[in-house]
Amino acid sequence: MIFVLGATGKIGRALVPALLDAGATVRALTRDPAKARIDPRAETVRGDLDTSDLPALLAGADRVFVLTQGHSADREAAVAQAAAQAGVTHLVKLSTTGVHFGQKDAITRAHAEAEQAIREAGPAWTILRPGAFMDNRFAWLGSIREENAVYVPEGDPASALVDVRDIAAVATLALTTSGHEGATYELTGGEALSTEQQVAALSEALGRSVEYVEEPESAARDRMARMYGWPAQAIDGFFALKRESAAHEHTVFDTVERLLGRPPLTFASWARENAAVFAHRLQE
Ligand SMILES: NC(=O)c1ccc[n+]([C@@H]2O[C@H](COP(=O)([O-])OP(=O)(O)OC[C@H]3O[C@@H](n4cnc5c(N)ncnc54)[C@H](OP(=O)(O)O)[C@@H]3O)[C@@H](O)[C@H]2O)c1
Repeated sequence: MIFVLGATGKIGRALVPALLDAGATVRALTRDPAKARIDPRAETVRGDLDTSDLPALLAGADRVFVLTQGHSADREAAVAQAAAQAGVTHLVKLSTTGVHFGQKDAITRAHAEAEQAIREAGPAWTILRPGAFMDNRFAWLGSIREENAVYVPEGDPASALVDVRDIAAVATLALTTSGHEGATYELTGGEALSTEQQVAALSEALGRSVEYVEEPESAARDRMARMYGWPAQAIDGFFALKRESAAHEHTVFDTVERLLGRPPLTFASWARENAAVFAHRLQE
């Protein structure tokens, strides 16, 4: 049985059905089963990584997809150790390309420490290091709804955004086939697009011309606090990560194509396939 952490998140929502389609038995974790819309073919379990009895959650698991939010290496170390004791044979950890590039921001450092804990826990391991997700662009919904515009901080770099479905496909491979033990995979899309090009692709998919506006960091900070309700600490964390990743975000890795035998999904196809979701949410 494969135990999936983060089953309701961006990657988890794609990973659970992909594993089930590959014939695996899946246990999916969420803090709130009533709200979670997890594929009914999976066993859904309620649990909180900070407070639940980890050995009980992990009992009977052979493999674990380790994705945690909140960026605590201690939390992932606790999962890895409990998994080893429960007899888990393979851990597949979701990390970030930032570790490959040696970034020094707090999020990347926590992932680097967590990777180490996973490698040292005992079970076989595979590390997946994706770059920025295409799904992050759902954050543009608010300003498109209110002003038909996308605001980006000045100097925002071109980015080889990756589709979470490609990450889920690679995770499925690592969790259901052999040969990925001890491997570390950097995962990106196949092309780096500037934010202006991304807005143009989204405009085309939505059939409306969305304005692209660059603004100074101070204005971007105010917008994040106002529109997303982010606390100052989260905004600082975002810009710290951005400063560290800016020089690398354009880098394209060929791993997705090598492992999946097809090119990575493109931002244009992501925009087209999510156009209906955007259209629906723009009316909320
Ligand atoms: N976004 C990017 O561009 C990017 C790029 C590279 C790497 N990453 C990494 O991807 C990971 C996922 O981040 P995300 O922001 O995209 O989040 P996400 O996977 O979309 O959502 C977070 C998931 O974590 C679960 N979760 C949160 N707190 C939990 C807890 N205390 N106990 C159990 N489950 C908990 C949530 O489940 P419930 O709410 O159902 O409990 C949800 O399924 C992070 O490690 C991040 O660093 C992100």
